[in-house]
Amino acid sequence: MTTSTSQPPQPPSTSTPQTRPPLTIDPQRLWDSLMELATIGAYHDEATGLVGVNRQSLTDEDAGGRRLVAGWMREAGLSVTVDEMGSIFGRRDGTDPTLAPVMAGSHIDSVATAGAFDGCLGVLGALEVVRSLNEAGIRTKRPIEIAAFTEEEGVRFGTDMLGSAVAAGRLTLQYAHDLVDAAGLRFGDELRRIGFAGDRPVRLEPPHAYLECHIEQGPILAQQQLAVGVVTGVQAISWQKVTLHGRAAHAGTTPAELRIDAGLAAARIAVRVREMVDSGRYGALRGTVGHLRTWPGLPSVVPDRAELTVDLRNPDDAHLSDAEADLAAFLATLPEEQPGLRVHTERMARTKQVPFAESVQEALEKIASNLGYPTTRLMSGAGHDAQEMAAITPVAMVFVRGQYDGISHSPREYSTPEDCAAGITLLGNALLQLAEEDR
Ligand code: HGY
Ligand code: MN
Ligand code: MN
Repeated sequence: MTTSTSQPPQPPSTSTPQTRPPLTIDPQRLWDSLMELATIGAYHDEATGLVGVNRQSLTDEDAGGRRLVAGWMREAGLSVTVDEMGSIFGRRDGTDPTLAPVMAGSHIDSVATAGAFDGCLGVLGALEVVRSLNEAGIRTKRPIEIAAFTEEEGVRFGTDMLGSAVAAGRLTLQYAHDLVDAAGLRFGDELRRIGFAGDRPVRLEPPHAYLECHIEQGPILAQQQLAVGVVTGVQAISWQKVTLHGRAAHAGTTPAELRIDAGLAAARIAVRVREMVDSGRYGALRGTVGHLRTWPGLPSVVPDRAELTVDLRNPDDAHLSDAEADLAAFLATLPEEQPGLRVHTERMARTKQVPFAESVQEALEKIASNLGYPTTRLMSGAGHDAQEMAAITPVAMVFVRGQYDGISHSPREYSTPEDCAAGITLLGNALLQLAEEDR
């Protein structure tokens, strides 16, 4: 798998057959590290009766996870650096320090109702590869660098893939540092508070390539009874926050025609998003109103304020833009229905569809075939750090099958030890092959 930032990666040259047996990893050690990290931020989830993980970025729980992973990196002989966004890097020197590293990583921050695998599999899997290279006494030509990017989930500071977006140049450091969470706490201040305001310059020199192994978070691999899949790219994502201002009034005495009901308007939006998805007019549109809150939130008061988020996704950029435009047009009609209603929208995140290099997918498939893993190609429904890194280097993503229809962002999230090991074995052998490339 020959990669360079000036030209699309070339398919693996058959003239350089794998001279050493495939790299093997220690599945139990990988699993144990996933389960140990999952104890940090663990909570009892009422809705499922399961133990979930809540390790939102820059919280004390996240800080605990960061310290644990950075310690494991040091124990594996990596030199650890932290950048200005708090992203953590562990570097393993190669025999030729003049060559750009091969990078592999993901994130260890989580949503509030997470499982043990989202993001963590990619970071701890890359660490398992390094541990296995150490045990096998293998020194690669290129350096290898593991990355744990900050605030990939975006659920605390309102925009996802934040650390990798700044590292790869889509967002600025100042913009990121000035973001505030729901309590008004500023990103930059929280980074200092937890002791992860690093001095490594945040803008990354393009690595030779970037690899990420991640749980699929969907049902496709399970439906096809495949342990691993090769990712073709990431669909386009649009996040916006809508705030509706109405007028508080008595629930018993105020007739409908005198109301400016912010809660009603919010409900209309949630229904409209689903109607747009069901209409089929926007291709494979996905729409989610994940956050919806009214004020004052009392049974006998007509809400005078409502706030909701709208997450729209589509593998087709034009369809997504059409959906955004049509939703905006719908929002503009709401004050006609309730004169006096004010509607305010705020863009939170917007990324285009990101295709991954065809040749990198082919190379991954070849390695998978050599390892005896059948694969399929699939587009990612979720956002990933790999989509940001694709702006500066060739990327490859390996998906691992999820159980229970691949449910994720839920404590039900689960992948088997065998499937996790398969994904990381594929990641490790791809990483090894890339780390031997001259150009
Ligand atoms: O929202 C996403 O797709 C990712 O989990 N940040
Ligand atoms: Mn993730
Ligand atoms: Mn996630």
